[in-house]
Amino acid sequence: MNIITKGDQYKRGGISVPDLIWEKVNETSVREDVDDPFYICDLQDILAKYRRWIKLLPNVEPFYAVKCNSEPQVLQLLAKLGVGFDCASKPEIQAMKDLDVDSSKIIFANPCKQRSHLRYAAKHNLLFMTFDNEAELDKVKEVCPEQRLVLRILTDDSTAQCQLGLKFGCHPKKARFLLEQAKTLGLNVIGVSFHVGSGCRDASAYFKAIKSAREVMDQGIQIGYKMEVLDIGGGFPGQESVALKFNEVAKVIKEALEVHFPETDKVRIIAEPGRYFVASAFTLAVNVTAVRVVARDCQTFKVPQSEDLVANSEAPTKCEEPGYMYYVNDGVYGSFNCILYDHATVYPKLLKERAENHQEFSSSIWGPSCDGFDRIIEHILLPKINVGEWIYFEDMGAYTMCAGSEFNGYLKPKCFYINDPIKKSGCYERTKASWEECIQKECNSSPHYKKRSRGMDTKMVQPSYKSTSPGFPTLEVGKYV
Ligand SMILES: Cc1ncc(COP(=O)(O)O)c(C=O)c1O
Repeated sequence: MNIITKGDQYKRGGISVPDLIWEKVNETSVREDVDDPFYICDLQDILAKYRRWIKLLPNVEPFYAVKCNSEPQVLQLLAKLGVGFDCASKPEIQAMKDLDVDSSKIIFANPCKQRSHLRYAAKHNLLFMTFDNEAELDKVKEVCPEQRLVLRILTDDSTAQCQLGLKFGCHPKKARFLLEQAKTLGLNVIGVSFHVGSGCRDASAYFKAIKSAREVMDQGIQIGYKMEVLDIGGGFPGQESVALKFNEVAKVIKEALEVHFPETDKVRIIAEPGRYFVASAFTLAVNVTAVRVVARDCQTFKVPQSEDLVANSEAPTKCEEPGYMYYVNDGVYGSFNCILYDHATVYPKLLKERAENHQEFSSSIWGPSCDGFDRIIEHILLPKINVGEWIYFEDMGAYTMCAGSEFNGYLKPKCFYINDPIKKSGCYERTKASWEECIQKECNSSPHYKKRSRGMDTKMVQPSYKSTSPGFPTLEVGKYV
């Protein structure tokens, strides 16, 4: 694995991500502990993703999967644009209701729900809730028999980064039985959903799943249901570094929908993208708090155990060079839980530039906790890094801070939100308009915004700092949120 130093950086507009990190690092007055890790979030990136979605999948309504990253600024922005929300629990629904999101814009996409959460969801009369088993139907019958239901079916997710089929989805062969069961109980099934696995690596999985959903929809119709909703779930790529690109996925989905769900069918198509919206918007900067030099085969300095720790199949052969163990202040109990839960691979980049011909050493990167399990990267070739230097990781927006703990007292990193469309971030179509104008322009042309049944622009959740603009907060470089 090779690192990319600043010189190779992708430049965004007038200022690059490393420049922004430098800015933060040097602005010591804005952080209590100057070496604490922090995130930079480019809200323009999320806006650009939204534009891309409506351009490539105009007939598919996105319902953002809140679990993926529930930062209020992200939720506010998406709510403002009229995007819907996929919630998995009562607190997630509550958060969206606190943002004044209309119930018709919220789905409860957890097929196995806690009774009290079910009751709460029913009280708010959400667009629909998913189910995939008989016991859930009995629960719904008892708690909220009037609710609209969507049957989640199992699809092939064998190549996905995170497989969900082990846990959820009824086999299509069992779908008829469940639909008949629902009919017998007098419940209201309105459609079918699936999830091809998070971080889908094979676009044909969508084609197969849509075909399978069509067959189950037809069974529902035969049983007497109207079947008016198809929910194609999540799985969409969120960063450019992955092999399967969003435009390829969108192309396959469009083709499959044309074949199996032509517009004349008047089926409402929705999706539950999570990582798509947020992965590339967040960059995490961590500080190197300590360095341990590891003897490789130096006679006077033998530490066999530590040597084992840096070794793996990729480890260089024996030589007299030292190896280095770097300790940074966020780890697998924090943002890097994505390595365990999301099966993510993370790539460090050095903030301080190195000469072209810099020497590289066998290195490993460790989190801050006192647990030996807290290892971020087992082996990588890196230049020698000094204590106090900054390393950053791009594409850290999905399934990172949302699942991180504060184990050993390490707090979650703070986040700087950047929204300046001119200088600070240059992705895709930038204008000289102010952030408010950008949002307004987007809302005016957004098909989802127009579909909202009541206004969400009147009451936004107040951020924890003073907003300088009415309505949507202006989030500037250097302002903590
Ligand atoms: C039901 C459901 N919908 C949507 C998502 C979001 O998936 P992704 O982030 O791959 O788009 C998930 C992720 O686990 C999920 O479980």
